[in-house]
Amino acid sequence: MSEVSWELLEHQIAACQRCCLCRGATHKVPGQGDRSAPLMLIGEGPGYQEDQQGLAFVGPAGQLLTRMLAAIGLPRERVYICNTVKCRPPNNRTPEFAETQACLIHLRMQVQLVRPKVILLLGSTAARVAINPSLRITHERGIWVERKGVWMLPTYHPSALLHDPAKKREAWEDLQRLRDKLQELGLYPDLYGQEAAHGDV
Ligand code: URA
Repeated sequence: MSEVSWELLEHQIAACQRCCLCRGATHKVPGQGDRSAPLMLIGEGPGYQEDQQGLAFVGPAGQLLTRMLAAIGLPRERVYICNTVKCRPPNNRTPEFAETQACLIHLRMQVQLVRPKVILLLGSTAARVAINPSLRITHERGIWVERKGVWMLPTYHPSALLHDPAKKREAWEDLQRLRDKLQELGLYPDLYGQEAAHGDV
């Protein structure tokens, strides 16, 4: 098995020309956060702000995501956040399947490095890449999928919640499922230990 390292990942993403998206990128957006987090979040792809700053989920959807995590008592710095594609698609269009496949080599390496126990899949693009290419987010959100000991939960993308606030109720249910799973697995014991479980969430 080839050696993986954060240095190799960074170099591999910086040098990547595996699809056309790299041509329009101001900055590539590898992802950031706690590199040994038990929870990984995977979004779709960088938007305008992310492309400008080289950081994932720093625009309006990212701000909502930060508030959503805070609502279950989880500081954003305690998770690792990345996207299916590391370069911004033109006009924020949805990445094409071929683009997500070209970028999968980076995502796989990130999963190998972080070794998360739980993955929250934000939106249909991430859920299709990780679970099933024909997944329908409206039907399959909120349903846990376990693969090789890793628990994955598809939910709505925060941008979808900004466009359609009626989806927020289901998204909140998914967040509670996430919090319950983290507690059941004994992850983040300082946040979800017995005392915290009876706290004010
Ligand atoms: N939407 C995403 O899917 N990812 C980001 O990083 C920002 C917005």
